[in-house]
Amino acid sequence: MILKIVKYPEPVLQQAGAPVTEFDEELRTFVANLFETMYKAQGIGLAAQQVGVAKRVTVIDLSLGKDPAQKLVLVNPEVVHREGKQYEEEGCLSFPDIREKIARAAKVRIRAQDENGKWFEMDGEELLSRAFQHEIDHLDGILFIFRMSPLKRSLNLRKIHKLQSEGTW
Ligand code: NI
Repeated sequence: MILKIVKYPEPVLQQAGAPVTEFDEELRTFVANLFETMYKAQGIGLAAQQVGVAKRVTVIDLSLGKDPAQKLVLVNPEVVHREGKQYEEEGCLSFPDIREKIARAAKVRIRAQDENGKWFEMDGEELLSRAFQHEIDHLDGILFIFRMSPLKRSLNLRKIHKLQSEGTW
């Protein structure tokens, strides 16, 4: 089922997600819906908050659905190690048409559970590292505009307000 993606400034986007404790059919259905919704929107990552649910669940697929081996489900994830720096353009499905360079760690190691509750660790570099950090930020209620410089943030907020007033946001 395709879910509705909420846009900034929907308050749920700034809510920290509650840890997941039940690894049941409801969770697996929710994860399947997150993938379906993300593919429809042509995104590479989607967090629960972006469909109005403040829980620590996110999905990532850098292949946009072309390679099943790249489907990642992260439940209760955390970054356990970070190193280096990268500064590349980033977007977010809750901020249509906003793209900005954001400073992130070049490499991270994350620890997470899958949809069955099994813990795993995984390393990510470059775009995958960026996706891990962007999505885990979502689960903490942190949006990428708050990772921009104050100047870039105010320029983008002004752009959003203008689009809102034109009814096109
Ligand atoms: Ni996002």
